[in-house]
Amino acid sequence: MTGTEPVIEIANLSIAAAQSGVTLVDDVSLHVDAGECLGIVGESGSGKSLTLRSILGLLPPALHRTQGTVRFQGEKEGLRPVEPRELRGHGVSMIFQEPMSSLNPTMRIGDLVAAGPRARGVSRRAAADQALRLLAEVGVPHPEQRARAWPHQLSGGLRQRVMIAMALSVEPRLLLCDEPTTALDTTVQDQILTLVERLRIERGLALIFVSHDLSVISRIADRTAVMYAGRIIEHGPTGALVDSPRHPYTRALIESMPQLHGPPVRLKTINGSPPTAGRLPPGCRFAPRCPLAVDACHQADPPLLNIGPHRATACLRQAEMNVGEPV
Ligand SMILES: Nc1ncnc2c1ncn2[C@@H]1O[C@H](COP(=O)(O)OP(=O)(O)OP(=O)(O)O)[C@@H](O)[C@H]1O
Ligand code: SF4
Ligand SMILES: [Mg+2]
Repeated sequence: MTGTEPVIEIANLSIAAAQSGVTLVDDVSLHVDAGECLGIVGESGSGKSLTLRSILGLLPPALHRTQGTVRFQGEKEGLRPVEPRELRGHGVSMIFQEPMSSLNPTMRIGDLVAAGPRARGVSRRAAADQALRLLAEVGVPHPEQRARAWPHQLSGGLRQRVMIAMALSVEPRLLLCDEPTTALDTTVQDQILTLVERLRIERGLALIFVSHDLSVISRIADRTAVMYAGRIIEHGPTGALVDSPRHPYTRALIESMPQLHGPPVRLKTINGSPPTAGRLPPGCRFAPRCPLAVDACHQADPPLLNIGPHRATACLRQAEMNVGEPV
């Protein structure tokens, strides 16, 4: 299910370290429609979290946005430019990998979830009722009993459900998910993904879901943006991108992805490591690790170019990439 106009549109976002000026996120553009999930995948340090955090103005103090605009769709109006802090608690919510660090340990679960409605002027009684409804909606068993518990008394999976209930308590239109299942075992991870999918459909939420794991992204995202060393290097509908990658890095991620079904296979790993921020190689930033690199790849970093409906890649040799070609 997708709307006709994006809920959010980010154009040419760049983030740099204030002191050194080193660029950490480089010219990222993306949009998400209502009811749609955009996945962002990439190795550690590729800029996934900074991209999400910048939407809410939650960048660490040492970093700043050097360029880019965020446009958000309001209740009645169309897309309009916004300042990130305007979005916090007003249309956009975020859930993180480690819920314990985001749950105030001195507050009971019910009060944590009721805090969102309370901040919007809802009475104490109505906010407490709303918290119980939200805890039930996200599958917390025995909500009345759990509402009286402290965060440390819950399992990791239940804490993540509480985080999701807190995120929903401000009635968001856009939910930002930063590796929300990474710290969980696979059974609980599966349950949380199912929950997020259900909420997206039932509430028509726009979702951005970040993970380093393409198998998670391929399960939940309609479209996927692949990030490498601060840039989006490939983008497209998830099925098409996984079936027929048009960037060698995406293909390498696919080959290192555990199979969801079928017999276990020996996974390939990607040779080498990503460049350190501020020490990018000349030319294509993936060139030192790329099995398809040719001389031209070392001359200039290829721009992200459209290669068909809803697909884009930043690879000089994308046209030569055929399904099944070994990388
Ligand atoms: N506070 C900070 N000061 C300086 N550099 C930072 C800071 N936070 C992040 N970075 C750098 O910015 C780059 C992108 O970081 P980011 O956290 O967005 O990566 P990520 O893709 O989310 O990685 P991970 O999968 O490990 O969460 C990395 O090189 C990281 O070292
Ligand atoms: S531009 Fe060249 S080095 Fe970069 S990904 Fe494509 S083939 Fe590899
Ligand atoms: Mg991260």
